[in-house]
Amino acid sequence: MKKLIIIGASGHGKVVADIAVLNGYKDIVFLDNSLSVTECAGYSVLGPDTLISELDGDVVIAVGNAETRKRLMNRNSERSFPPLIHPSAVVAEGAEVGAGSVVMAGAVINPGAQIGEGCIINTSSSVDHDCIVGNYVHISVGAHLSGTVIVCEGTWIGAGATVSNNINICGGCMVGAGAVVIKDIDEPGTYVGVPARKIK
Ligand SMILES: CC(C)(COP(=O)(O)OP(=O)(O)OC[C@H]1O[C@@H](n2cnc3c(N)ncnc32)[C@H](O)[C@@H]1OP(=O)(O)O)[C@@H](O)C(=O)NCCC(=O)NCCS
Repeated sequence: MKKLIIIGASGHGKVVADIAVLNGYKDIVFLDNSLSVTECAGYSVLGPDTLISELDGDVVIAVGNAETRKRLMNRNSERSFPPLIHPSAVVAEGAEVGAGSVVMAGAVINPGAQIGEGCIINTSSSVDHDCIVGNYVHISVGAHLSGTVIVCEGTWIGAGATVSNNINICGGCMVGAGAVVIKDIDEPGTYVGVPARKIK
């Protein structure tokens, strides 16, 4: 029986569990460092993430913070982190989705796109042709990357944001909800608005 350990018993974890079931996982448990949480989406939360060494099964990190996803994947690098893809997502032939990445309902990943490890490609977002999405990037609900965009490690593209084609965004950025990015972003920071400008 396919077993899955989900680290992070949050709302995001709930959605990940739903996708896991649709990917054939029948035996699902959660780990979470918040010891008051004992159940998530009807599955048991067994204890803190350090318990992982006592458990068999594939692993997915369902934590929004990119640094935490990276740390937990690196700390457990001997484990299997399969990508989880909702059956209603469209992933083009030949597009790549890296280990531990989750592609949610209605997302579209077009030909030539490469998604790194530990990414979240959230509900109804799109990653168009030939985009390169680095490790631990989050493309939020309803955000869109036009063709040939590069988003580097750990950057978070907020809900409903749009990135024009051929744009490069460096690592360590937060692109706010609803922003429209029309120029390369070369410095880590927080960018909001139309067109997107740095605020922090
Ligand atoms: C960009 C963001 C991270 C900034 O959060 P923050 O650091 O707490 O910043 P603040 O709320 O203090 O806002 C700072 C200023 O930026 C403005 N601002 C914040 N977010 C903005 C946005 N998305 N678009 C336009 N302006 C925004 C605020 O109005 C404020 O302006 P002011 O100084 O003139 O009052 C946050 O607002 C955001 O957009 N988060 C994305 C959440 C998201 O997409 N979640 C998806 C989950 S799937």
